[in-house]
Amino acid sequence: MRRKVIAGNWKMNNDLGASISLASELKTNLPELGENQLIICPPFTSLESVNEVIKDSPIALGAQNMSKQDSGAYTGEVSASMLKSVGCEYVILGHSERRTIFNEQDALINAKIRKALSEGLKPIFCIGETLEEREGGITNQVVKRQVVEGLKDITEENLALIILAYEPVWAIGTGKTATPEQAQEVHKFLRELLAELYSAPAADKLIIQYGGSVKPDNAGELLSQADIDGALVGGACLKSDSFVNIIKSA
Ligand code: 13P
Repeated sequence: MRRKVIAGNWKMNNDLGASISLASELKTNLPELGENQLIICPPFTSLESVNEVIKDSPIALGAQNMSKQDSGAYTGEVSASMLKSVGCEYVILGHSERRTIFNEQDALINAKIRKALSEGLKPIFCIGETLEEREGGITNQVVKRQVVEGLKDITEENLALIILAYEPVWAIGTGKTATPEQAQEVHKFLRELLAELYSAPAADKLIIQYGGSVKPDNAGELLSQADIDGALVGGACLKSDSFVNIIKSA
């Protein structure tokens, strides 16, 4: 049995004060996690302070993006070593908002994943199709390209450090969740693809999260699917009670 991994992507929400409050509430109300894992990904400006709040708790810290560069004249960018220095263990890479709004392409995402791994950060690697792609019947083709390109030159040993997050773009922030069957179908396809690209044991161990309008009332059913090993939560992680209820469904 794979453990479940629940991650909260705060996106561009919560200034320093609000971040400390949310992290503190979460820590206070944290349910028993058992083997399961919990990650929160606040904005860059809150990472260090949130780390102070959660450091003696089972909650792990992640960032939402990272530069592929080590250091230098890259105004506005944040490096892997900077993230590690404020307590990050994880980093979300390839999120659809980075792909669509900031035009991040597969090759850049691959470079970022490789950089994160080489610096000891664990990537939460996001993929997913748009509504147009789903309606055009090319969902599998799109996620296959994203996986093949995103994981280029990544060894099986390093794959074990990656969390894959399937987030259909049409389900993000729209309230339109993929049905558990729709999500399971893609997750199964992804696991079979990973078995082909690497090996059956590697694919079997891989954590594949679902993301896109995960809420307390749909989390249980999604998380009970055979190949859904966790959730990457946006809107519903911004209130500790709804996030706690999602964590409890895992
Ligand atoms: P929502 O849960 O708000 O749909 O966001 C999902 C997401 O993009 C998490 O990374």
